[in-house]
Amino acid sequence: MRKLLKGARILDPARSLSEILDIEIRDGTIARIARDLSPQDCEVIDLTGLVLCPGFVDMHTHLREPGQEDKETLETGLRAAARGGFVAVACMPNTAPPLDQRASVEYVIRRGLQIGLSRVFPVASVSKMQKGEELAELGDLAEGGAVAFSDDGKPVSRAELMRRALEYSRMLDRPIISHCEDLTLSAGGAMNEGYLCTKMGLRGIPKAAEEVMVARDIILAETTRARLHFAHISTRRSVELVRDGKARGVSITAEVTPSHLILTEEAVSGYDTNAKVNPPLRTADDVDALRQGLKDGTLDVIATDHAPHTREDKEKEFAYAPFGISGLESAVSLLLTELVGRGVLSLEELILKLSTNPARILRLHFGGIQEGSSADFTVLDLEKEATIDTGTFQSKGRNSPFHGWKTKGAPVLTCVQGNFVWGEVTRDSRPARSPVMV
Ligand code: DOR
Repeated sequence: MRKLLKGARILDPARSLSEILDIEIRDGTIARIARDLSPQDCEVIDLTGLVLCPGFVDMHTHLREPGQEDKETLETGLRAAARGGFVAVACMPNTAPPLDQRASVEYVIRRGLQIGLSRVFPVASVSKMQKGEELAELGDLAEGGAVAFSDDGKPVSRAELMRRALEYSRMLDRPIISHCEDLTLSAGGAMNEGYLCTKMGLRGIPKAAEEVMVARDIILAETTRARLHFAHISTRRSVELVRDGKARGVSITAEVTPSHLILTEEAVSGYDTNAKVNPPLRTADDVDALRQGLKDGTLDVIATDHAPHTREDKEKEFAYAPFGISGLESAVSLLLTELVGRGVLSLEELILKLSTNPARILRLHFGGIQEGSSADFTVLDLEKEATIDTGTFQSKGRNSPFHGWKTKGAPVLTCVQGNFVWGEVTRDSRPARSPVMV
Protein backbone atom coordinates (compact mmCIF):
# COMPACT_ATOMS: atom_id res chain seq x y z
CA MET A 1 0.00 0.00 0.00
CA ARG A 2 2.90 2.35 0.70
CA LYS A 3 5.68 3.27 -1.67
CA LEU A 4 8.63 5.57 -1.31
CA LEU A 5 10.05 6.96 -4.56
CA LYS A 6 13.53 8.25 -4.06
CA GLY A 7 15.86 10.48 -6.00
CA ALA A 8 13.82 11.65 -9.01
CA ARG A 9 13.76 15.23 -10.20
CA ILE A 10 10.18 16.33 -9.60
CA LEU A 11 9.10 18.57 -12.44
CA ASP A 12 5.68 20.21 -12.25
CA PRO A 13 5.86 23.42 -14.29
CA ALA A 14 2.32 24.46 -13.28
CA ARG A 15 3.64 24.72 -9.70
CA SER A 16 7.10 25.97 -10.66
CA LEU A 17 8.50 22.85 -9.07
CA SER A 18 11.85 21.47 -10.23
CA GLU A 19 13.74 19.77 -7.46
CA ILE A 20 15.17 16.41 -6.46
CA LEU A 21 12.72 15.22 -3.82
CA ASP A 22 11.32 11.98 -2.42
CA ILE A 23 7.63 11.11 -2.68
CA GLU A 24 5.68 8.86 -0.38
CA ILE A 25 2.54 7.30 -1.80
CA ARG A 26 -0.11 6.02 0.57
CA ASP A 27 -3.47 4.57 -0.51
CA GLY A 28 -3.11 5.95 -4.02
CA THR A 29 -2.38 9.47 -2.84
CA ILE A 30 0.79 11.54 -2.63
CA ALA A 31 1.14 11.60 1.15
CA ARG A 32 4.45 13.45 1.47
CA ILE A 33 6.95 15.23 -0.73
CA ALA A 34 10.22 16.16 0.93
CA ARG A 35 13.98 15.83 0.76
CA ASP A 36 15.49 12.55 2.07
CA LEU A 37 12.38 10.86 3.41
CA SER A 38 13.27 7.77 5.43
CA PRO A 39 11.45 4.56 4.61
CA GLN A 40 8.98 3.46 7.23
CA ASP A 41 7.39 0.19 6.38
CA CYS A 42 7.16 0.79 2.65
CA GLU A 43 8.51 -0.43 -0.65
CA VAL A 44 11.42 1.76 -1.77
CA ILE A 45 11.87 2.53 -5.48
CA ASP A 46 15.04 4.23 -6.59
CA LEU A 47 14.39 6.75 -9.37
CA THR A 48 17.75 8.49 -9.23
CA GLY A 49 18.58 10.18 -12.53
CA LEU A 50 14.96 10.18 -13.74
CA VAL A 51 12.32 12.91 -14.07
CA LEU A 52 8.91 12.55 -12.42
CA CYS A 53 6.17 14.80 -13.81
CA PRO A 54 2.37 15.12 -13.77
CA GLY A 55 0.77 12.19 -15.60
CA PHE A 56 0.29 12.69 -19.32
CA VAL A 57 -3.27 12.97 -20.64
CA ASP A 58 -4.00 12.19 -24.28
CA MET A 59 -7.18 14.05 -25.10
CA HIS A 60 -7.54 12.53 -28.57
CA THR A 61 -7.42 8.74 -28.81
CA HIS A 62 -9.39 6.24 -30.90
CA LEU A 63 -9.96 3.00 -29.00
CA ARG A 64 -12.36 1.41 -31.54
CA GLU A 65 -14.48 -0.48 -28.99
CA PRO A 66 -17.35 -1.17 -29.40
CA GLY A 67 -17.50 -2.57 -32.89
CA GLN A 68 -14.03 -2.46 -34.42
CA GLU A 69 -12.15 -4.76 -32.09
CA ASP A 70 -10.01 -6.04 -34.96
CA LYS A 71 -8.35 -2.60 -34.94
CA GLU A 72 -8.16 -2.07 -31.14
CA THR A 73 -9.95 -2.92 -27.92
CA LEU A 74 -10.24 -0.86 -24.77
CA GLU A 75 -7.77 -3.25 -23.19
CA THR A 76 -5.07 -3.11 -25.89
CA GLY A 77 -5.56 0.65 -26.27
CA LEU A 78 -5.25 1.30 -22.56
CA ARG A 79 -2.16 -0.90 -22.37
CA ALA A 80 -0.67 1.14 -25.21
CA ALA A 81 -1.56 4.32 -23.30
CA ALA A 82 0.12 3.04 -20.13
CA ARG A 83 3.22 2.06 -22.06
CA GLY A 84 3.29 5.43 -23.78
CA GLY A 85 3.35 7.29 -20.46
CA PHE A 86 -0.31 8.36 -20.49
CA VAL A 87 -2.20 8.07 -17.21
CA ALA A 88 -5.43 8.98 -18.98
CA VAL A 89 -6.93 9.15 -22.43
CA ALA A 90 -10.10 10.72 -23.79
CA CYS A 91 -11.49 8.34 -26.39
CA MET A 92 -13.30 9.55 -29.48
CA PRO A 93 -16.83 8.40 -30.29
CA ASN A 94 -16.36 7.18 -33.88
CA THR A 95 -16.86 3.56 -32.85
CA ALA A 96 -19.48 1.23 -34.32
CA PRO A 97 -22.04 2.22 -33.21
CA PRO A 98 -20.80 5.67 -32.21
CA LEU A 99 -20.82 6.72 -28.55
CA ASP A 100 -24.10 8.58 -28.88
CA GLN A 101 -26.02 6.82 -26.10
CA ARG A 102 -25.58 7.10 -22.39
CA ALA A 103 -25.31 3.30 -22.10
CA SER A 104 -22.28 3.25 -24.45
CA VAL A 105 -20.54 6.00 -22.49
CA GLU A 106 -21.17 4.14 -19.25
CA TYR A 107 -19.91 0.90 -20.83
CA VAL A 108 -16.58 2.51 -21.75
CA ILE A 109 -16.16 3.89 -18.23
CA ARG A 110 -17.09 0.59 -16.57
CA ARG A 111 -14.85 -1.47 -18.85
CA GLY A 112 -11.99 0.98 -18.29
CA LEU A 113 -12.29 0.55 -14.54
CA GLN A 114 -12.34 -3.25 -14.92
CA ILE A 115 -9.18 -3.14 -17.03
CA GLY A 116 -7.53 -1.00 -14.39
CA LEU A 117 -4.66 0.45 -16.43
CA SER A 118 -4.72 4.08 -17.60
CA ARG A 119 -7.93 5.99 -16.99
CA VAL A 120 -10.37 6.40 -19.86
CA PHE A 121 -12.73 9.36 -20.33
CA PRO A 122 -15.25 9.04 -23.15
CA VAL A 123 -15.97 11.85 -25.57
CA ALA A 124 -19.57 11.44 -26.78
CA SER A 125 -21.00 12.27 -30.20
CA VAL A 126 -22.43 15.68 -30.97
CA SER A 127 -25.01 14.18 -33.32
CA LYS A 128 -27.00 10.97 -33.35
CA MET A 129 -25.00 8.26 -35.16
CA GLN A 130 -22.52 11.03 -36.02
CA LYS A 131 -24.71 11.81 -39.00
CA GLY A 132 -24.61 15.53 -38.43
CA GLU A 133 -28.40 15.79 -38.62
CA GLU A 134 -29.86 15.67 -35.13
CA LEU A 135 -28.26 16.49 -31.78
CA ALA A 136 -27.49 13.54 -29.51
CA GLU A 137 -28.91 13.68 -25.97
CA LEU A 138 -26.05 15.81 -24.72
CA GLY A 139 -27.38 16.26 -21.17
CA ASP A 140 -27.88 12.55 -20.72
CA LEU A 141 -24.43 11.81 -22.16
CA ALA A 142 -22.81 14.32 -19.80
CA GLU A 143 -24.60 12.75 -16.83
CA GLY A 144 -23.34 9.37 -18.00
CA GLY A 145 -19.77 10.66 -17.80
CA ALA A 146 -18.90 12.16 -21.20
CA VAL A 147 -16.15 14.74 -20.69
CA ALA A 148 -16.64 16.47 -24.06
CA PHE A 149 -18.61 16.18 -27.30
CA SER A 150 -17.27 15.66 -30.80
CA ASP A 151 -18.18 14.03 -34.10
CA ASP A 152 -14.44 13.49 -34.63
CA GLY A 153 -13.55 11.58 -37.74
CA LYS A 154 -16.22 13.75 -39.31
CA PRO A 155 -17.03 17.43 -39.06
CA VAL A 156 -20.32 18.91 -37.87
CA SER A 157 -21.08 20.28 -41.31
CA ARG A 158 -24.26 22.20 -40.53
CA ALA A 159 -23.45 25.48 -38.83
CA GLU A 160 -26.87 25.59 -37.20
CA LEU A 161 -26.33 22.20 -35.54
CA MET A 162 -22.89 23.27 -34.32
CA ARG A 163 -24.38 26.44 -32.91
CA ARG A 164 -26.98 24.50 -30.93
CA ALA A 165 -24.40 21.97 -29.76
CA LEU A 166 -22.27 24.83 -28.46
CA GLU A 167 -25.24 26.35 -26.63
CA TYR A 168 -25.99 23.06 -24.86
CA SER A 169 -22.35 22.32 -24.15
CA ARG A 170 -22.04 25.70 -22.47
CA MET A 171 -24.88 24.85 -20.10
CA LEU A 172 -23.28 21.47 -19.43
CA ASP A 173 -19.80 22.97 -19.02
CA ARG A 174 -18.25 20.54 -21.48
CA PRO A 175 -16.12 21.58 -24.48
CA ILE A 176 -17.04 20.73 -28.05
CA ILE A 177 -14.05 19.25 -29.87
CA SER A 178 -14.20 20.26 -33.50
CA HIS A 179 -12.84 18.17 -36.37
CA CYS A 180 -12.52 20.96 -38.90
CA GLU A 181 -13.11 19.76 -42.43
CA ASP A 182 -15.34 21.14 -45.13
CA LEU A 183 -16.31 17.93 -46.90
CA THR A 184 -17.17 19.70 -50.12
CA LEU A 185 -13.56 20.87 -50.34
CA SER A 186 -11.85 17.70 -49.12
CA ALA A 187 -14.03 15.20 -51.02
CA GLY A 188 -12.02 12.36 -52.51
CA GLY A 189 -8.69 13.74 -51.28
CA ALA A 190 -6.01 11.45 -49.90
CA MET A 191 -3.13 13.82 -49.06
CA ASN A 192 -2.19 17.50 -48.96
CA GLU A 193 -3.16 19.38 -52.12
CA GLY A 194 -0.18 20.73 -54.00
CA TYR A 195 2.59 19.89 -56.44
CA LEU A 196 3.46 16.57 -54.78
CA CYS A 197 -0.07 15.18 -54.92
CA THR A 198 -0.39 16.15 -58.57
CA LYS A 199 2.93 14.43 -59.28
CA MET A 200 1.75 11.35 -57.43
CA GLY A 201 -1.54 11.27 -59.30
CA LEU A 202 -3.64 11.60 -56.14
CA ARG A 203 -6.46 13.95 -55.26
CA GLY A 204 -5.54 16.59 -52.73
CA ILE A 205 -7.11 17.95 -49.58
CA PRO A 206 -6.66 21.73 -49.68
CA LYS A 207 -5.68 23.61 -46.56
CA ALA A 208 -8.84 25.67 -47.01
CA ALA A 209 -10.93 22.58 -46.16
CA GLU A 210 -9.69 22.96 -42.59
CA GLU A 211 -9.33 26.73 -42.43
CA VAL A 212 -12.87 27.70 -43.46
CA MET A 213 -14.22 25.49 -40.66
CA VAL A 214 -11.77 26.91 -38.10
CA ALA A 215 -12.97 30.39 -39.05
CA ARG A 216 -16.64 29.35 -38.85
CA ASP A 217 -16.23 27.71 -35.47
CA ILE A 218 -14.37 30.66 -33.96
CA ILE A 219 -17.33 32.84 -34.95
CA LEU A 220 -19.80 30.33 -33.50
CA ALA A 221 -17.81 30.04 -30.26
CA GLU A 222 -17.78 33.80 -30.04
CA THR A 223 -21.53 34.15 -30.51
CA THR A 224 -22.42 31.34 -28.10
CA ARG A 225 -19.64 32.03 -25.58
CA ALA A 226 -19.15 28.27 -25.30
CA ARG A 227 -15.85 26.43 -24.93
CA LEU A 228 -14.56 25.05 -28.19
CA HIS A 229 -11.44 22.94 -28.69
CA PHE A 230 -9.88 22.41 -32.11
CA ALA A 231 -8.66 18.90 -32.86
CA HIS A 232 -5.51 18.26 -34.91
CA ILE A 233 -4.71 21.70 -36.33
CA SER A 234 -2.46 21.31 -39.39
CA THR A 235 -1.96 24.59 -41.28
CA ARG A 236 -0.31 27.98 -40.79
CA ARG A 237 -3.55 29.86 -41.51
CA SER A 238 -5.44 27.78 -38.90
CA VAL A 239 -2.80 28.71 -36.32
CA GLU A 240 -3.19 32.38 -37.26
CA LEU A 241 -6.98 32.18 -36.99
CA VAL A 242 -6.78 30.58 -33.53
CA ARG A 243 -4.18 33.12 -32.39
CA ASP A 244 -6.42 35.93 -33.56
CA GLY A 245 -9.54 34.41 -31.93
CA LYS A 246 -7.72 34.01 -28.63
CA ALA A 247 -6.49 37.60 -28.80
CA ARG A 248 -10.12 38.70 -29.08
CA GLY A 249 -10.98 36.69 -25.96
CA VAL A 250 -12.94 33.84 -27.57
CA SER A 251 -12.81 30.73 -25.37
CA ILE A 252 -11.04 28.44 -27.78
CA THR A 253 -8.20 25.98 -27.28
CA ALA A 254 -6.36 23.86 -29.82
CA GLU A 255 -4.23 20.79 -30.23
CA VAL A 256 -1.65 19.48 -32.68
CA THR A 257 -0.36 15.93 -33.17
CA PRO A 258 3.26 14.75 -33.02
CA SER A 259 3.01 13.66 -36.67
CA HIS A 260 2.02 17.13 -37.87
CA LEU A 261 4.83 18.64 -35.78
CA ILE A 262 7.50 16.32 -37.12
CA LEU A 263 6.60 15.16 -40.64
CA THR A 264 5.74 16.89 -43.90
CA GLU A 265 3.80 15.59 -46.91
CA GLU A 266 7.11 14.14 -48.15
CA ALA A 267 6.43 11.22 -45.78
CA VAL A 268 3.79 9.91 -48.20
CA SER A 269 5.91 10.39 -51.33
CA GLY A 270 6.57 6.63 -51.54
CA TYR A 271 2.82 5.96 -51.18
CA ASP A 272 3.34 4.89 -47.57
CA THR A 273 -0.20 4.45 -46.26
CA ASN A 274 1.16 4.47 -42.69
CA ALA A 275 1.65 8.21 -43.14
CA LYS A 276 -1.86 8.75 -44.54
CA VAL A 277 -3.68 10.77 -41.93
CA ASN A 278 -6.55 13.23 -41.75
CA PRO A 279 -5.88 16.15 -41.75
CA PRO A 280 -3.02 15.29 -44.08
CA LEU A 281 0.62 16.01 -43.39
CA ARG A 282 1.35 19.45 -44.80
CA THR A 283 4.43 21.47 -45.80
CA ALA A 284 7.59 22.58 -43.99
CA ASP A 285 6.10 26.07 -43.71
CA ASP A 286 3.05 24.67 -41.89
CA VAL A 287 5.30 22.66 -39.56
CA ASP A 288 7.18 25.85 -38.69
CA ALA A 289 3.91 27.66 -37.94
CA LEU A 290 2.63 24.78 -35.79
CA ARG A 291 5.85 24.77 -33.77
CA GLN A 292 5.67 28.54 -33.37
CA GLY A 293 2.03 28.24 -32.31
CA LEU A 294 2.95 25.69 -29.67
CA LYS A 295 5.75 27.85 -28.39
CA ASP A 296 3.67 31.04 -28.08
CA GLY A 297 0.67 29.30 -26.48
CA THR A 298 -1.70 29.46 -29.46
CA LEU A 299 -1.72 25.67 -29.46
CA ASP A 300 -2.38 24.44 -25.93
CA VAL A 301 -2.07 20.69 -26.27
CA ILE A 302 -0.19 17.94 -28.04
CA ALA A 303 -2.57 15.01 -28.59
CA THR A 304 -1.73 11.77 -30.36
CA ASP A 305 -4.89 11.20 -32.46
CA HIS A 306 -3.97 7.54 -31.94
CA ALA A 307 -5.85 5.90 -34.84
CA PRO A 308 -5.10 2.18 -35.01
CA HIS A 309 -5.96 0.24 -38.17
CA THR A 310 -5.34 -3.36 -39.23
CA ARG A 311 -2.56 -4.33 -41.62
CA GLU A 312 -5.17 -5.38 -44.18
CA ASP A 313 -6.78 -1.93 -44.02
CA LYS A 314 -3.49 -0.16 -44.54
CA GLU A 315 -2.30 -2.51 -47.30
CA LYS A 316 -4.92 -1.09 -49.63
CA GLU A 317 -3.98 1.19 -52.49
CA PHE A 318 -3.11 4.64 -51.14
CA ALA A 319 -6.32 6.34 -52.29
CA TYR A 320 -8.46 3.67 -50.58
CA ALA A 321 -6.52 3.03 -47.35
CA PRO A 322 -8.04 4.55 -44.19
CA PHE A 323 -6.57 7.66 -42.58
CA GLY A 324 -4.73 7.29 -39.27
CA ILE A 325 -1.50 6.74 -37.36
CA SER A 326 -1.09 4.55 -34.28
CA GLY A 327 0.50 7.09 -31.96
CA LEU A 328 0.27 6.34 -28.26
CA GLU A 329 3.51 4.41 -27.88
CA SER A 330 5.84 6.59 -29.89
CA ALA A 331 4.55 10.09 -29.07
CA VAL A 332 6.54 10.94 -25.96
CA SER A 333 9.88 9.56 -27.20
CA LEU A 334 9.46 11.36 -30.52
CA LEU A 335 8.57 14.65 -28.84
CA LEU A 336 11.51 14.40 -26.44
CA THR A 337 13.84 13.69 -29.35
CA GLU A 338 12.51 15.94 -32.11
CA LEU A 339 11.20 18.91 -30.11
CA VAL A 340 12.97 19.02 -26.74
CA GLY A 341 16.19 17.49 -28.09
CA ARG A 342 16.33 20.02 -30.93
CA GLY A 343 15.51 23.01 -28.75
CA VAL A 344 12.02 23.67 -30.17
CA LEU A 345 10.33 23.30 -26.76
CA SER A 346 11.71 23.11 -23.25
CA LEU A 347 10.93 20.01 -21.21
CA GLU A 348 8.70 22.14 -18.99
CA GLU A 349 6.72 23.38 -21.99
CA LEU A 350 6.31 19.84 -23.28
CA ILE A 351 4.99 18.67 -19.90
CA LEU A 352 2.41 21.48 -19.84
CA LYS A 353 1.17 20.52 -23.33
CA LEU A 354 0.93 16.84 -22.43
CA SER A 355 -0.48 16.99 -18.91
CA THR A 356 -1.58 20.22 -17.26
CA ASN A 357 -3.30 21.80 -20.29
CA PRO A 358 -5.36 18.82 -21.50
CA ALA A 359 -6.37 18.04 -17.89
CA ARG A 360 -7.51 21.65 -17.47
CA ILE A 361 -9.52 21.68 -20.72
CA LEU A 362 -11.31 18.44 -19.78
CA ARG A 363 -11.65 19.50 -16.13
CA LEU A 364 -9.83 16.41 -14.88
CA HIS A 365 -8.81 16.89 -11.30
CA PHE A 366 -5.73 14.78 -10.89
CA GLY A 367 -2.14 14.73 -11.93
CA GLY A 368 -0.58 17.64 -10.06
CA ILE A 369 2.47 16.74 -8.02
CA GLN A 370 1.43 17.97 -4.60
CA GLU A 371 0.65 16.47 -1.22
CA GLY A 372 -2.94 15.23 -1.05
CA SER A 373 -3.25 14.72 -4.82
CA SER A 374 -3.97 11.40 -6.44
CA ALA A 375 -0.66 9.72 -7.33
CA ASP A 376 -0.91 9.94 -11.13
CA PHE A 377 2.43 10.61 -12.72
CA THR A 378 4.80 9.75 -15.52
CA VAL A 379 8.52 9.06 -15.06
CA LEU A 380 10.89 9.92 -17.90
CA ASP A 381 14.40 8.69 -18.60
CA LEU A 382 15.87 11.50 -20.69
CA GLU A 383 18.97 9.49 -21.57
CA LYS A 384 17.31 6.31 -22.73
CA GLU A 385 18.10 5.58 -26.36
CA ALA A 386 15.79 3.38 -28.36
CA THR A 387 14.52 2.55 -31.82
CA ILE A 388 10.78 2.67 -32.46
CA ASP A 389 9.68 -0.85 -33.26
CA THR A 390 6.01 -1.23 -34.12
CA GLY A 391 6.44 -4.97 -33.52
CA THR A 392 6.63 -4.27 -29.79
CA PHE A 393 3.48 -2.09 -29.71
CA GLN A 394 0.86 -3.12 -27.18
CA SER A 395 -1.69 -1.52 -29.49
CA LYS A 396 -3.15 -3.70 -32.20
CA GLY A 397 -2.42 -0.85 -34.60
CA ARG A 398 1.07 -1.13 -36.08
CA ASN A 399 0.38 1.63 -38.59
CA SER A 400 3.16 4.09 -37.93
CA PRO A 401 5.50 5.95 -40.28
CA PHE A 402 8.00 6.19 -37.39
CA HIS A 403 9.02 2.52 -37.37
CA GLY A 404 12.82 2.40 -37.20
CA TRP A 405 13.25 5.99 -35.95
CA LYS A 406 15.93 6.47 -33.31
CA THR A 407 14.89 8.27 -30.16
CA LYS A 408 16.55 9.65 -27.05
CA GLY A 409 14.34 9.99 -23.98
CA ALA A 410 11.38 7.80 -23.07
CA PRO A 411 8.58 7.30 -20.56
CA VAL A 412 9.70 4.47 -18.27
CA LEU A 413 7.06 4.34 -15.55
CA THR A 414 3.36 5.22 -15.53
CA CYS A 415 1.57 5.46 -12.21
CA VAL A 416 -2.22 5.70 -11.89
CA GLN A 417 -3.67 6.28 -8.42
CA GLY A 418 -0.54 4.86 -6.86
CA ASN A 419 -0.46 1.74 -9.06
CA PHE A 420 2.36 1.18 -11.52
CA VAL A 421 0.48 0.36 -14.70
CA TRP A 422 3.65 0.26 -16.77
CA GLY A 423 7.27 0.20 -15.68
CA GLU A 424 10.63 -0.38 -17.28
CA VAL A 425 12.98 1.02 -14.66
CA THR A 426 16.21 -0.85 -14.14
CA ARG A 427 18.42 -0.48 -11.11
CA ASP A 428 20.88 1.78 -12.86
CA SER A 429 17.92 3.10 -14.86
CA ARG A 430 19.59 2.84 -18.27
CA PRO A 431 19.59 1.15 -20.59
CA ALA A 432 16.21 -0.21 -19.51
CA ARG A 433 16.58 -3.78 -20.61
CA SER A 434 15.33 -5.79 -17.65
CA PRO A 435 12.19 -4.46 -16.08
CA VAL A 436 12.16 -4.77 -12.32
CA MET A 437 8.53 -3.92 -11.98
CA VAL A 438 5.42 -3.92 -14.06
O1 DOR B 1 -6.44 10.17 -39.47
C1 DOR B 1 -7.49 10.12 -38.85
N1 DOR B 1 -7.96 8.95 -38.37
N2 DOR B 1 -8.19 11.25 -38.65
C2 DOR B 1 -9.41 11.25 -38.12
O2 DOR B 1 -9.99 12.29 -37.99
C3 DOR B 1 -10.06 9.97 -37.73
C4 DOR B 1 -9.05 8.93 -37.46
C5 DOR B 1 -9.64 7.53 -37.36
O3 DOR B 1 -10.64 7.36 -36.66
O4 DOR B 1 -9.07 6.61 -37.94
